[in-house]
Amino acid sequence: MKGIILAGGTGTRLYPMTLAMNKQLLHIYDKPMIYYPLSTLMLAGIQDILIISSQDAQPNFEKLLGNGNHLGLNISYQQQEKPNGIAEAFIIGEEFISNDPCALILGDNVFHGQGLGKLLSRCAELETGAKIFATWVSDPERYGVVDLDKDGNIRGLIEKPKVAPSNWAVAGLYFFDYNVSSIAKSISPSPRGELEILDVIKQYLEEDKLEIEKLGRGYAWLDTGTPQSLLEAATFVQTLQQRQGLGICCPEEIALSQKFISLKQFKILAKKYSSSEYGKLLNKTIQDTSK
Ligand code: G1P
Repeated sequence: MKGIILAGGTGTRLYPMTLAMNKQLLHIYDKPMIYYPLSTLMLAGIQDILIISSQDAQPNFEKLLGNGNHLGLNISYQQQEKPNGIAEAFIIGEEFISNDPCALILGDNVFHGQGLGKLLSRCAELETGAKIFATWVSDPERYGVVDLDKDGNIRGLIEKPKVAPSNWAVAGLYFFDYNVSSIAKSISPSPRGELEILDVIKQYLEEDKLEIEKLGRGYAWLDTGTPQSLLEAATFVQTLQQRQGLGICCPEEIALSQKFISLKQFKILAKKYSSSEYGKLLNKTIQDTSK
């Protein structure tokens, strides 16, 4: 399974914060935003990762994450010239995807919850069809929304409906088989001029190849597209990390727990940040793992 992080976009809802800085390089509490989706893919066991960003931002992502080898990953980079829609990621990434199944995560989506790793590694076993996640939200009109019948079967999917058919929003994490690039090439831009991810998903639904996983109360799905939601996400991370002394979405720690790197390699990474709070969390992990 390959993984794509879509970290493009102009971040206009965060202006002026994103005038000179890519949104996914802003921080959520103690670490850059991209660490969160990166961690989610790593939890799924994915090591081949493509980061799609803009021409301006790519050098900064490369500075931050390089080729990913220090995390036991293989990270490559491509650019999306204009925000032409989420589904364009599969056209840009066609060669990278090749004949493999592929997960896509939006660069501003944060997932956290007990057992998420197990759930995601099961999803990463997908070989045919598609899998998406629905989460219950109070403001479904802001998202793609799932229309379900009384037995819980999907009747349809609607992007940002005026009147939402349910409170189940489609989260920004998707698993697809290798057909996804040709499907993305076959769809037309929506009235807002974008290749919509929901139009790709609808193809799988029509062919009866779509599975939906509801993320219940035990999971947090946060998006960070507005100043308020960015602050809420930061507070969430700070509160849990402070209370538990355990890091949320620290790629180094996940690399260690997934055995992508050895304890010796982890110690070298942790030493680099020893004067920051983040480094202290990593060092605590070393103490905990050696107990
Ligand atoms: C996008 C998708 C939408 C999904 C959301 C999740 O919306 O189009 O279906 O629910 O991400 O974050 P956008 O962020 O482009 O408004």
